[in-house]
Amino acid sequence: MSQAEQIIPHGHVLRYTLRERLTHWVAGFSYVYLLLTGLAFWSPWCFWIAVILGGGQVSRMLHPWAGLIFVGAVLYMYGMWAGQMRYTDIDKAWWKAVRYYSTNQDDKMPPAGRYNAGQKFLFWGFFWGGILLLLSGVVLWFPEYISWNLRFLRYLAIIVHPAAALFTIGLFMIHLYMGLFAERGAFGSVIRGDVSMAFAKRYHPGWYQEITRQAAAPRK
Ligand code: HEM
Repeated sequence: MSQAEQIIPHGHVLRYTLRERLTHWVAGFSYVYLLLTGLAFWSPWCFWIAVILGGGQVSRMLHPWAGLIFVGAVLYMYGMWAGQMRYTDIDKAWWKAVRYYSTNQDDKMPPAGRYNAGQKFLFWGFFWGGILLLLSGVVLWFPEYISWNLRFLRYLAIIVHPAAALFTIGLFMIHLYMGLFAERGAFGSVIRGDVSMAFAKRYHPGWYQEITRQAAAPRK
């Protein structure tokens, strides 16, 4: 489907297809489960969360499986979006001007495309964070298969797993703030799929220009 065909009536445009939204929510729900159970394992002060979620043993058993689902969704996202998440010169300029973004002076920002540089950073952060969580998580899941000579891998996993988790938690909190509160209309795009043309123009002017140009071009 071309972008021109994605323009839907009443001044809206399709931002996320059903496949993109479903993948996003598989990642979202599995991540929240991992976060809650992970916090329960991390500190006795948070163990009550595991109790609410069915008990310590159930949480310990399901956590690695939820991890596989999460990383599967992130890899699927990679397949869908990696091509659109490459850094460009506009992204470099975007970071330089980020103070205008954080003070809602969007008109002073370089024209972001479908994703701005912050969203690209989030994407790659979750991708590499997910890979590190997977590798260290597998070692923690099956420590008995790591030979004694390679025991440094176990120590490494004990450090890498929570460090990568903390990194993604930082990203996740910024992502929640941006998606739920900072950019009005963003949350609807991962539920219904569409955003208003005004949203596209304000937050993703490069993408807006692309879709309006394609819509105006004569059909062959
Ligand atoms: C569970 C709570 C979550 C909420 C409420 C949420 C919300 C959102 C929203 C509103 C957007 C659309 C932003 C836009 O296009 O302007 C979005 C996009 C996206 N989400 Fe989430 N999300 C959640 C969890 C996650 C998780 C766990 C990941 C990790 C893989 C993730 C990765 C992404 C990516 C890569 C995008 C596209 C780029 C971006 O907008 O940052 N999301 N999300």
